[in-house]
Amino acid sequence: MLTYIFLIILVVSLANKTTDGNKNIFILGGQSNMSGRGGVVNNIFDGFIPPECQSNSSILRLTKGLTWEEAKEPIHQDIDFYAICGIGPGMSFANFVLKNDPNIGVIGLVPCAVGATNISQWSQGSIFYNQMLNRTRVALQGDGMLRALLWYQGETDTLNDDAKLYKLRLYKFFTDVRNDLNTPSLPIIQVALASKFGPYTEEIRQVQLETQLQNVKTVDANGLKVGPDFVHLSTPSEVQLGQMLANAFLGFGSAHNLL
Ligand SMILES: *[C@@H]1O[C@H](CO)[C@@H](O)[C@H](O)[C@H]1NC(C)=O
Ligand SMILES: *[C@@H]1O[C@H](CO)[C@@H](O)[C@H](O)[C@H]1NC(C)=O
Ligand SMILES: *[C@@H]1O[C@H](CO)[C@@H](O)[C@H](O)[C@H]1NC(C)=O
Ligand SMILES: *[C@@H]1O[C@H](CO)[C@@H](O)[C@H](O)[C@H]1NC(C)=O
Repeated sequence: MLTYIFLIILVVSLANKTTDGNKNIFILGGQSNMSGRGGVVNNIFDGFIPPECQSNSSILRLTKGLTWEEAKEPIHQDIDFYAICGIGPGMSFANFVLKNDPNIGVIGLVPCAVGATNISQWSQGSIFYNQMLNRTRVALQGDGMLRALLWYQGETDTLNDDAKLYKLRLYKFFTDVRNDLNTPSLPIIQVALASKFGPYTEEIRQVQLETQLQNVKTVDANGLKVGPDFVHLSTPSEVQLGQMLANAFLGFGSAHNLL
């Protein structure tokens, strides 16, 4: 009997966690491909927003000023403000999650990515790290529930032989974020990059593809097309990447409710 009552309570509380009233918080971190340069040509964003990236009243964005607004591309512009931002994977991700999990409630995106940053610039206590954690903590106030960190970084670290230290730095970064946010098994979905530029690309890519931390998934950008600047994912590639990230997130299944 007691077990039965307990199960009912468990089911009801799990159900409550996934219905309206909750804000599902996703952190977006890394460098330019996460920030978004799709549709940026000669430092001008062409303004084209594909259907997969349209705004939706259920998709919010935490602004630089720490207020919520309906998210609208380019969602990183006030965060990655030195660059001209375009389409990234965030809106495609959010729309795809919403479409496939209509009961999830509101999606709250916390853009934090900054172009050209190396992994050391994200280490615990750094400006970007602190900003990311601060923004996330604000996002979690009230009805916020942290669901995942989406991470796309590494290109800058392919440029020098510091790449040897990438594994150590990446693992420490993921672990620090989880610890500092009190979510030790926070789902993390990272992107394995497929750059042709840095001499140490294979080393970085290897680390990403072979990351062995619990609840870390890696989707592979290999095969995704870059745009006319040859450096950044095109708009269609960013749309596709967003859906890959969403599928990886949805693949965590109900386990992510138990955080
Ligand atoms: C918002 O997304 C939901 C789920 O995909 C969809 O049913 C709804 O039509 C969308 N609203 C707008 C204004 O696009
Ligand atoms: C990372 O970037 C910072 C700022 O540009 C620089 O000072 C540092 O040397 C870089 N570290 C590595 C390992 O490249
Ligand atoms: C981060 O949050 C702390 C505590 O709320 C605050 O003192 C600090 O100024 C914030 N830092 C930034 C960069 O917003
Ligand atoms: C963006 O991603 C593509 C595909 O992984 C990669 O070729 C390119 O080097 C990346 N660019 C940056 C600046 O990270």
